[in-house]
Amino acid sequence: MKVAIFSSHRFERSFLEKSNEAHGHTLHLFEARLNTQTAPLAAGFSAVSCFVTDDLTQAVLEQLKQGGTRLIALRSAGFDHVDLEAAHRLGLTVTRVPTYSPYAVAEFAVGLLLSLNRKIHRAHVRVREQNFSLEGLMGFDLHGCTVGIVGTGNIGSVFARIMLGFGCRVLANDPVPNENCKQLGVRYVSLAELYEQSDIISLHCPLTKQTRHLVDDTALAAMKKGVMLINTGRGGLIDTAAVIRALKSNKIGYLGIDVYEREDLLFFRDLEDTIINDDVFARLQTFPNVLITGHQGFFTREGLTRIASITLDNISAFEHGQSVVNVV
Ligand code: NAI
Repeated sequence: MKVAIFSSHRFERSFLEKSNEAHGHTLHLFEARLNTQTAPLAAGFSAVSCFVTDDLTQAVLEQLKQGGTRLIALRSAGFDHVDLEAAHRLGLTVTRVPTYSPYAVAEFAVGLLLSLNRKIHRAHVRVREQNFSLEGLMGFDLHGCTVGIVGTGNIGSVFARIMLGFGCRVLANDPVPNENCKQLGVRYVSLAELYEQSDIISLHCPLTKQTRHLVDDTALAAMKKGVMLINTGRGGLIDTAAVIRALKSNKIGYLGIDVYEREDLLFFRDLEDTIINDDVFARLQTFPNVLITGHQGFFTREGLTRIASITLDNISAFEHGQSVVNVV
């Protein structure tokens, strides 16, 4: 099949090309992000593959349809950036990569948590400056802490197991409780109870109409003073303006985010010589107790291998008229 790969990054090319050896598709790798300006590039391609930063709103989907596209193969688990109603109306099939490495993201969330707590990122900078003072670097034992997890699917359940290994008490909230988690000792509670009791809260639910701005002023008011908030889910789960207010009042003690509401304007490119016009993001960067990474939770060798192979499996299954399992 002729596949137009949008937002193709240098880091994923070799994985896509290697996986394609078993499929024989004709891959055209475009660095451009998909949007109304770049959609004409997809004309004549029956399959288009997209990343989380691509624009898959109705106007773009209509252009793709007109150009002959039938399949949109997402190279991500999340599909909150796709107007699914419009895609279905236009008869476009959308596939995703539901699970590629839950370990990659869960382990990264733990990395953010540990760095924030023990201030490893700050200590590294200090030691490089030959400043060996420990003032301001004190952390706390994770053992005995209460960790609240919102969403215990593939990633949240791995995160739960890791936190149980640290000797934490783990609470969770999920409309579909995970039996394995329950057996391991995770206790499912209401969001109100999770907010009230947790020292650390980690978000692992998808971004939907229901979860947009899950963490807003009201939710933050219900949390413990000094709470650590970790978000490797999607930026929109958090009302960033509310979080900034909570950081200023010391309600939030630590914030670790791998995702950001307006990351589409920033992440996945080098903006070193650019003026950042996003004042909300700039404000976030000023807090000493905030650690931000640019959406790299998925970024392991194993993760990239599976993203490439499952995306190409989805395309091949569609091409051969087989039942495509990863349709959204
Ligand atoms: P999953 O579908 O296996 O699990 C999501 C869980 O959230 C499910 O158990 C579901 O019942 C639960 N959930 C749904 N609505 C909820 C609500 N309102 N409150 C509480 N729980 C709710 O998804 P998976 O693979 O664990 O991924 C979770 C999210 O992580 C993805 O949707 C994606 O946004 C994000 N992600 C981030 C990556 C990164 O690089 N930072 C990479 C991959 C995924």
